Amino acid sequence: MQGINIMATQRTLSIIKPDATRRNLTGQINAMFEGAGLRIIATRRLQLTQAQAEAFYAVHAERPFFKDLVSFMVSGPVVAQVLEGEDAVLKNREIMGATDPKKADAGTIRAAFAESIEANSVHGSDAPEAAAEEIGFFFAGIDITG
Ligand code: CMP
Repeated sequence: MQGINIMATQRTLSIIKPDATRRNLTGQINAMFEGAGLRIIATRRLQLTQAQAEAFYAVHAERPFFKDLVSFMVSGPVVAQVLEGEDAVLKNREIMGATDPKKADAGTIRAAFAESIEANSVHGSDAPEAAAEEIGFFFAGIDITG
């Protein structure tokens, strides 16, 4: 039946993490997003403060890895981006690969570049609702050109 599998244009929030900016991988990662059909419609390189990193990852505050995760995320600059395209949330998760690079499929960003489950090169929103919230964390409407 028509209509069941129609994909919608979506937006998702991506962060290129400090391990990747440190190794000068921003361009190669962006090429993987663009090659897969996602448009980079907003981009911002910044150094997160401790408080900002804690706020962004507040959902993980009770996890044992939270403190190390926050320390890692403030260890160097990140590149926050809005990616737009068909089914962008899921598509970006496919391009990134599994959180643990040992489990990431060949050809994914994390299989290619991640150093560990923590220094895993990229973050991507896990659902459309989270994407809206995470985009609002980094960008105002005026920053996003579509
Ligand atoms: P990210 O998608 O940014 O969301 C939370 C991050 O916590 C995750 O990627 C990992 O980089 C990091 N992390 C560190 N240890 C773990 C773990 N054991 N399980 C899940 N995520 C972890």
